[in-house]
Amino acid sequence: MARLTEIGWEEFSGLELVKKRPYLELPDGGGMPYHTLFAQQFDRGILERLCALANRIRFINKSKEGALYLKNVLAHKRAMLYFSQPSSRTFLSHLAACQILGITTGSVRDAATSSEFKGESREDSIRTFSSYFDMIIMRSPEQGLAEKMAWELSNSSRPIPILNAGSGKDQHPTQALLDIYTLMRSFENAGGIDGKTVVFCGDLLRGRTVRSLSYLLTNFSDVRQIFVAPQELHVPDDVIAVLEAKGAKYEVRSSLREAVPEADAVYMTRIQDEWDTSKGASAKIDTTKFKFGAEELALLKPTGAIMHPLPRRDEIATCCDHDPRAMYWRQMRNGMWVRAALIASTFGYENNIMGCGY
Ligand code: CP
Repeated sequence: MARLTEIGWEEFSGLELVKKRPYLELPDGGGMPYHTLFAQQFDRGILERLCALANRIRFINKSKEGALYLKNVLAHKRAMLYFSQPSSRTFLSHLAACQILGITTGSVRDAATSSEFKGESREDSIRTFSSYFDMIIMRSPEQGLAEKMAWELSNSSRPIPILNAGSGKDQHPTQALLDIYTLMRSFENAGGIDGKTVVFCGDLLRGRTVRSLSYLLTNFSDVRQIFVAPQELHVPDDVIAVLEAKGAKYEVRSSLREAVPEADAVYMTRIQDEWDTSKGASAKIDTTKFKFGAEELALLKPTGAIMHPLPRRDEIATCCDHDPRAMYWRQMRNGMWVRAALIASTFGYENNIMGCGY
């Protein structure tokens, strides 16, 4: 087994993502991640194991006895939620996942309230958190910081796992896990994800959820990905290069309305103007044709799923919210279950939960 202690940072950081995977695995975990940093760590077998565990946790948690059993599973562990970018869902669903498993948590949500305000580096902050906690769940505007921290901690006296809860414009692997879990549940009586068409729409250039989910979909057979966006925000070349390398089916288009009737799932995204390099740049882009409303709803298959990582602005009209095909609320709650599954697996408790008597 490859270990992060056996490779220097320069060499490790220069590897292709798929070649980094063995260095990040849980020892004796059958390919399960220890550090979760990017989507390329998940193959179909791991995704199916995590979704099965999420289903199991969801079921066990329904009864009081089951919920109390789960609360004991990791009652000896502590997790730090270090979010130096705003978040509602990712923060709260990780927090709730920890609570389900009995994990005690601490948090920093604003660097201005930590010693970073006094000039401490993010690296030193994370080394500090590792002194007190057994896992760090981190969101950062800085691409690659989670990866660097995973390497640093693995080479320290406190080699605790890092979960990437969103890194810059780059990756959001746990969001992609909950998206896959939602797709699996949506299509469980319709042949699963294989053979389905997923339409991505909105800000595909700066949406880290799109990059991570697009990769995870390549683990399934015969999935077609259709990318629809304004020219200025179209899917970046690196996402396309991955699809080309994997031989995945994809199309780049400009009309949402034409794509919707072909979709099994439509994955809408927000215009991510927080990344604008000049103030108001996104507001100058014509996004009117990249919104999902009553007319698109009428074009969607009866079995179609409308998804969104959220938060939304106006890219899905509220008139869609009560349609049974609107999956975004369930998608959000699914995040709690699949994150609980990932955290339990990271600590090596997958088999305990799968095999328990509840
Ligand atoms: N989907 C997502 O990452 O939402 P938050 O920014 O609210 O965490």
